Amino acid sequence: MDSPILKTENLSKRYGNRWAVSGLDLEVPRGQVYGFLGPNGAGKTTSIRMMLGLIAPTSGKAEINGININSNPINALSHVGAMVETPAFYGYLTGRENLQLLGRISGGIDNKRVDEVLSLVGLFERGGDRVKGYSQGMRQRLGLGQALLAKPAVIVLDEPTNGLDPSGMLEVRRLIKDLAAKEGITVFISSHLLHEVQAICGRVAIINEGKLVAEGLVEELLKSELIKLDIKVSDKNRAMDVLREYDPKPSGGNGDITLNMESDRIPEVNRLLVESGVDVFALVPREESLEKFFLELTGYASGDRGAS
Ligand SMILES: Nc1ncnc2c1ncn2[C@@H]1O[C@H](COP(=O)(O)OP(=O)(O)O)[C@@H](O)[C@H]1O
Ligand SMILES: [Mg+2]
Repeated sequence: MDSPILKTENLSKRYGNRWAVSGLDLEVPRGQVYGFLGPNGAGKTTSIRMMLGLIAPTSGKAEINGININSNPINALSHVGAMVETPAFYGYLTGRENLQLLGRISGGIDNKRVDEVLSLVGLFERGGDRVKGYSQGMRQRLGLGQALLAKPAVIVLDEPTNGLDPSGMLEVRRLIKDLAAKEGITVFISSHLLHEVQAICGRVAIINEGKLVAEGLVEELLKSELIKLDIKVSDKNRAMDVLREYDPKPSGGNGDITLNMESDRIPEVNRLLVESGVDVFALVPREESLEKFFLELTGYASGDRGAS
């Protein structure tokens, strides 16, 4: 088996008397999109900063392509491209000029590679426009382009869809998925959004309060995501009659009907209603908070929660 492209061993970071990351063991295999999922404050950015050598770990170590990031940073970093914060570009320069400039700084990147990268991230047509006129989504794609310039084996993206509107998010997600499939690049992407990780990742590591709580194939770990399903139908009374026979029981009130259930049972609910002669206008899954999901996943086992 191939060695992992990214690896951490007991990686830990303490701020004051609080562990932001604690004993993180990760092995990221090559050639797929790997998700790093956790709610805000879970320790994702801190982990990524340590993996990229931007901050030193309190203990433990991180390797890129088998090379220790702290003892041999230049060599280790030659295998990785990254986008950690919203990347800063010169607004008065064009997208193409920004990448050319970055290419000259890092060396060995010609204009042909810059144009290749612009095509990869879907900015070839707009590459001649000034960045100050770019949408947030376009800036984010240019950031991805910058991470790809030196043809790294792996790119590390810290919440790359943060701050984007829904269509921008979709655009960036599609691009990431494409990159992995077409270019054979390994992508390590952090996110606090369950559905985002579900949509693009093969494997996922789940982190909460600085600790790894689960690791595995997305479809196995996240398949039975608990949701609230809001149901809009032609005949609410009839639908309530049908669903009262169902497990779980619906709640109704004055608004929509709601079911608390696993997301993979939505088709079943739809079929049940339609076959009972109820017209279904909408089945809208409302996302549960990640925090709640973690509680389910860890069986309320998180005992050392501080008072913060
Ligand atoms: N430079 C810092 N100094 C003190 N505490 C920090 C610092 N950076 C992060 N933290 C704390 O570490 C925890 C993890 O933060 P972070 O890694 O940014 O989480 P995430 O990226 O998952 O939202 C948080 O409680 C945060 O407040
Ligand atoms: Mg973060």
